[in-house]
Amino acid sequence: MTIDQAAVMDKVVALCKRRGFVYPSSEIYGGINALYDYGPYGVALRRNIRNLWWRHVVELRDDVVGLEASIIMAPEVWVASGHVDGFTDPLVDCLGSCKKRWRADHLESDRCPECGGELGPARQFNLMFKTFIGPLEASSAQVYLRPETAQAMFVDFKNVLNSMRVRLPFGIAQQGRSFRNEISPGNFIFRLREFEQMEMEFFVRPGEDEEWHRHWIEERHRWYLEVLQLNPERVRIRAHEGAELAHYAKATSDIEYHFPFGWGELEGVANRTDFDLRQHQQHSRQDLTYTDTQTNERYLPYVIEPAAGVDRIMITLLVDAYREEEVRGETRVVLALAPRLAPIQVAVMPLSKKEELIGPARRLQSLLRPHFRTEYDQTGGNIGRRYRRQDEIGTPFCVTVDFDTLDDECVTIRERDSMQQRRVPIAEVAQNLRGELE
Ligand code: GAP
Repeated sequence: MTIDQAAVMDKVVALCKRRGFVYPSSEIYGGINALYDYGPYGVALRRNIRNLWWRHVVELRDDVVGLEASIIMAPEVWVASGHVDGFTDPLVDCLGSCKKRWRADHLESDRCPECGGELGPARQFNLMFKTFIGPLEASSAQVYLRPETAQAMFVDFKNVLNSMRVRLPFGIAQQGRSFRNEISPGNFIFRLREFEQMEMEFFVRPGEDEEWHRHWIEERHRWYLEVLQLNPERVRIRAHEGAELAHYAKATSDIEYHFPFGWGELEGVANRTDFDLRQHQQHSRQDLTYTDTQTNERYLPYVIEPAAGVDRIMITLLVDAYREEEVRGETRVVLALAPRLAPIQVAVMPLSKKEELIGPARRLQSLLRPHFRTEYDQTGGNIGRRYRRQDEIGTPFCVTVDFDTLDDECVTIRERDSMQQRRVPIAEVAQNLRGELE
């Protein structure tokens, strides 16, 4: 069944709340703009996203190592990186009746899109959140919540180099929260004020940067298609044009997804040159050069950076997986998530709450639990309703224990997408599902 694209976003937002993926933050106090909490299934999905990124960017390679840096760093870091002076968006105020604030570069006319009122002059607004370290709220104690995870990889470059046996080319990867006081956040969890990034800085010899840039664009594109299994017709690579390039980048290509609200960036893959190491070398007065032990050459490496966001990938997966089907006069909602991403992979259900079914169902779950993410589900009314609930959270398989099980030691495996059912001996269920889930 084809669904009205404009409605998909609203339906996904409603599903997220109804089924425990995403809740508005501080909702009992009326919520707080552009901040969200992730519920139990949301947490599971995000863990799977992070783990698949880590697996492919770090663990399956010989040339990338991990880092977890503190969110608050020395304020000089953000001077050197250019964020204190340049991480700004132009802000305009409506002088008409609504008094709303807008990002000047997002407006199509010079009148307020809300009330048609006149707009004031644009001023630059820095997106970094400020706070104070220690008991004094003095300017000397002012620090920032990091607006990107990337800078720690440059600041710790020498530490990693000196403590690990890494040689160029190699990368440093990090996952963690970042904060931006966005003027116009929105589209649910697409643009947030607190979000999570997955970034990797890949250090290369100058001159080899363009080839590595191409490598990482391809590699990351492949991850979205082959590992996350997004619909390839909705994914594209778009190179930045001149004026769009960030101040630190020689070239950037975004991996974009076609959302119900238009094309949006999932990940940027930038060639940052030696901009960051050079800036930090100058501001810290520490030598950040690399010595090639074979040629004795000393230089500042160039950096290729694939930078993605967990929240954006999460909303993409939900939108991409959302299906509606007519089944016997009712609408069946399905999240057709790839089995490796599904929060729950196998739901185990006794047909009824009768004691003689609960025992075997619990035993079956304990057989499956070591291999898959399982859930035991004996509540929620009749079996059809329980299947529908599992469909909505994207569970690829439900396994039901019924009264025949007591005689034949077999259970029914029901498949999410086809709704087909097969009867399998309890002892063979794990083996039977392994091929499809691992
Ligand atoms: N270190 C480079 C950098 O931070 P970016 O394009 O500003 O580049 C990288 O951010 C990724 O982080 C984006 O592609 C997006 O997935 C995510 N991201 C950035 N700002 C975001 C926001 N306000 N809300 C949610 N995700 C965001």
